[in-house]
Amino acid sequence: MLPPVPSAVGRARIRDGADPQVLADAAQRLAAGGLVAFPTETVYGLGANADDASAVAGIYAAKGRPADHPLIVHVTDAAAVDAYAVDLPAVAQRLIEAFWPGPLTVILSRRAGVAEAAAAGLPTVGLRSPSHPVAQALLHAARKLGVRGVAAPSANRFGRISPTQALHVAGEFDADVEVLDGGACEVGIESAIVDCSRGYPVLLRPGQIGRARIEQAAGEPLRSPDADAPRSSGTLVSHYAPRARLRLMAGEQLRQALEVLGPTSAAFSRLALYSRTVAVPPGLRASRHMPEDADKAASELFAALRELDVEGVTLIWVESPPDAAAWDGVRDRLQRASA
Ligand code: TXA
Ligand code: MG
Repeated sequence: MLPPVPSAVGRARIRDGADPQVLADAAQRLAAGGLVAFPTETVYGLGANADDASAVAGIYAAKGRPADHPLIVHVTDAAAVDAYAVDLPAVAQRLIEAFWPGPLTVILSRRAGVAEAAAAGLPTVGLRSPSHPVAQALLHAARKLGVRGVAAPSANRFGRISPTQALHVAGEFDADVEVLDGGACEVGIESAIVDCSRGYPVLLRPGQIGRARIEQAAGEPLRSPDADAPRSSGTLVSHYAPRARLRLMAGEQLRQALEVLGPTSAAFSRLALYSRTVAVPPGLRASRHMPEDADKAASELFAALRELDVEGVTLIWVESPPDAAAWDGVRDRLQRASA
């Protein structure tokens, strides 16, 4: 019998991330300086050996990412932190203990001479231990081959929507990228990022783990980023953009806007809707219902935006999420997508 033909989109190859041989090959690829896209519980990442400057340069090239935007280094567990960081403050230790493996990244003082390119030359490094079993298996297999950490940004071209499925990744790159398929990402939005390198913790990017839970584990309040905050592409005002123009509106405003537009206008024929309480007018080209539950909404968010960003749609109107803290991550991504 012939071996199964791996599915391919463009030059990317999608492989079964649960297959031990596929994982072993992917670890070899990382150790040899190649790129591997892999699933995490948040979004898919595009990975390279964090200590291989030319492999890391390949990530920047594939993404079209500016060279001064640092990458998160993914590690197996807390025991791997010392390889990359020094002077770990107690607050970072508490956060790591509470949330690893899981969707939380900590920014720490970088050990001199390691992960220089991944950290974009900054004196700090972002570390995260992902919980997805395929990510864990890949990190462990790579570590046996001498790869202590895997630098991985979200596996999308710079500024676009993060991928939450293997097929999303395959459509993103011209480069010859291998994608490990681990199903749809459960969390769906990128990790929360807490900067622990400044003597007090700063929430650089909200995620699924809410501010209150982080503060409880930290044992102190989180500050918000100020003007001195380090550059963080996920914290750029405009990010996560679909091709169509995205506009966020409160329910009532959205209802009125739909009425004003009317079903026969040219704009109506190019409109998609993503709403929780606003009814979808008949004849609309594309629409999705936003779940009532914040975690479920996060889990579906990027796939929904990709689905609505179909050919012919030039506008995506989105109903603003509720004000509750549980929606901080989703609200943040939608605001950046609409900016
Ligand atoms: O959930 C996630 O974090 C995903 C998965 C793949 O782990 N990764 C991800 O990577 O979202 P990326 O590159 O799309 O976003 C990483 C963010 C960027 O905003 C980057 O600027 C920030 O982390 N970052 C990384 N290292 C940093 C550092 N040393 N100081 C400040 N920000 C840093
Ligand atoms: Mg990203």
